[in-house]
Amino acid sequence: MPGLGDATRGRLLFGGDYNPEQWPEETWHEDVRLMKAARVNSVTLGAFSWSKLEPEPGAREFGWLDTLMDLMHEHGVGVVLATPTSSPPPWLGRLHPDTLPVTEDGRTEWWGGRQHFSHSSPTYRRFAAAITEDLAARYGGHPALTMWHINNEYCTVDHGDQAAAAFRRWLRARYGTLDALDEAWGTAFWGQGYDTWDGILPPRLPHYLRNPAQVLDFRRFTSDMLLECYTAERDIVRRHSPHVPVTTNFMPLWSGVDAWRWAEEEDVVSVDLYPDPRDPLGAQHGALVQDMTRSQARGPWMLMEQAAGPVNWRGVNHPKPRGLNRLWSLQAVARGADAVCYFQWRQSRQGAEKFHSGMVSHAGEEGRTFQEVKRLGADLERIAPAVTGRPVPARVAVLHDWHAWWAGDQDGRPSRRVNHPEVLSAWHRALWQAHLTADFAHPEHDLTPYALVAVPQLYALTDAAVGNLLAFVGQGGTLVCGFLTGVADQDDRVRPGGMDARLRELFGIRTLHEWWPLEAGETVDCEGFRGTLWSEELEGDGTADATVPYRGGELDGLPAVLRKGRAWYVSTLPEPGPLRDLLASVARDAGVRPVLDGLPEQVEAVRRGELLFVLNHGREPVTVDVPGTHHDLLTGTDVTGRVTLGRYGAAVLRP
Ligand code: GLA
Repeated sequence: MPGLGDATRGRLLFGGDYNPEQWPEETWHEDVRLMKAARVNSVTLGAFSWSKLEPEPGAREFGWLDTLMDLMHEHGVGVVLATPTSSPPPWLGRLHPDTLPVTEDGRTEWWGGRQHFSHSSPTYRRFAAAITEDLAARYGGHPALTMWHINNEYCTVDHGDQAAAAFRRWLRARYGTLDALDEAWGTAFWGQGYDTWDGILPPRLPHYLRNPAQVLDFRRFTSDMLLECYTAERDIVRRHSPHVPVTTNFMPLWSGVDAWRWAEEEDVVSVDLYPDPRDPLGAQHGALVQDMTRSQARGPWMLMEQAAGPVNWRGVNHPKPRGLNRLWSLQAVARGADAVCYFQWRQSRQGAEKFHSGMVSHAGEEGRTFQEVKRLGADLERIAPAVTGRPVPARVAVLHDWHAWWAGDQDGRPSRRVNHPEVLSAWHRALWQAHLTADFAHPEHDLTPYALVAVPQLYALTDAAVGNLLAFVGQGGTLVCGFLTGVADQDDRVRPGGMDARLRELFGIRTLHEWWPLEAGETVDCEGFRGTLWSEELEGDGTADATVPYRGGELDGLPAVLRKGRAWYVSTLPEPGPLRDLLASVARDAGVRPVLDGLPEQVEAVRRGELLFVLNHGREPVTVDVPGTHHDLLTGTDVTGRVTLGRYGAAVLRP
């Protein structure tokens, strides 16, 4: 299989989504001039061009794209060519209403926006395959083509009749018999047993709570259907150009698709990342998404989209202060990106995203945004030879699984306040603040490369996953596990005792009596720290080596944290500082060192290959101790013992 290296060829890809069909042809020539000035070497074409390519059913208008592909090639800009299938032309919905998705309460999602397609519609799939086939036949051998980009941010959900039929097929393949389905879904509850497959529906709007196992399977089904759409188009483009890598862009931590599963089907894993410039934890959010994407890619990955300035879809949309675009781009490279790209090249003058920034903003060439983009292009060119293809070493893994998320994140639970991504993020933030570089992993992945595995929360675990955790500890690994983990099996059936018996034994828990979820703003005292969000009434079995008790209140004296050998269980969510300190000390015991010692809080340090990236997320200058002498690839100077970074400053140091 080709990979990102086939597209980068030793460079860092730099560029963005290019939508030239929104502009007259003179602008295209101006675009290439500016692209050259900014050292842009990659553009994504065609993501929303279906109605331009096929203005009426079966028509083909490729002339404009021929011109652009040639123009890009002539100017040394590679093309990531997108299949346009995320935004079908209006005629498709008009002539074939069966291609339109339906919401849980029966409303049709009409054309006039985008992503108005039913993943299960055979008609949609037929038209999507046809345009993909012709696109691939025409451009598969074009010298500008560096990568295929299938669709855009797969995310549609469909509860309509097409989806109902496909859901039944999917369920038949999974369960074989209605008895097996009834058993897995626990339909004895509320008398939901089925007499025929035709009686089964997507979880459409009910009077009261839904069957959670049905919802869980529907989420699995939706991810699988979208994946089928992706692989169908991928297989077409591969047939025409087997040596060109294929990707589709993920939304970060998007609940709709199982990105572990999807990543296996991609040559390049790519993601769209838009932290809020005003969010004090924006950099941590970036780091989390970057670590997750690198782990899915198992190596270099592609930042497909970010914003050079403001987005247009938050309540209030803030621009990036001077220097922040460069800093966050270098952060992505530090954490394994070999491509730094944007939505979009030139800011639109019309349409729903005209107030979303571009690399060339409405202010044009002289605008600050473009000037900063230009500087970044030069920086990336400078560091590329030393960085592309290099690994990011990590001895810590954080476990995450979409199925556990889907099972846990439903109505009818002990607390609506428990939110899987928030808990995941709190734990990742603690590691990030402790300057420990972490990968993410699926609970059934091989964990042997890691010294420390952290499980912020995996509500549902398969038997295989539990076995994997036990084996990891058995082989000398350190495991630290958060609350509400191992509660249910793969069908969302609660394990006897409310938590997997093997895990209870691992941590030294005899009985889990009750969960005591906390209200917003409520905390629970534990010896040495305060817990938030959740607490548990646990009874130890006397085998734990150490415990930290709850203090005061109903749980006074009962264990809040247990450690048995190399296995830790944390039954609450400690406040951020204590969680950081806890994980830092567990890591130290496991022999895992921070990237650098004594780093100021606002400074992030990451190693990639032989390079050390030092990033100042603060607006104040800072001096950082860096033992030894290094060459800063960004400034071209040598630094000994310490490096000073200005506001949002960065150093890329080679020993
Ligand atoms: C997504 C899409 C783009 C654009 C941006 C705006 O990432 O893929 O087409 O809508 O959001 O932020």
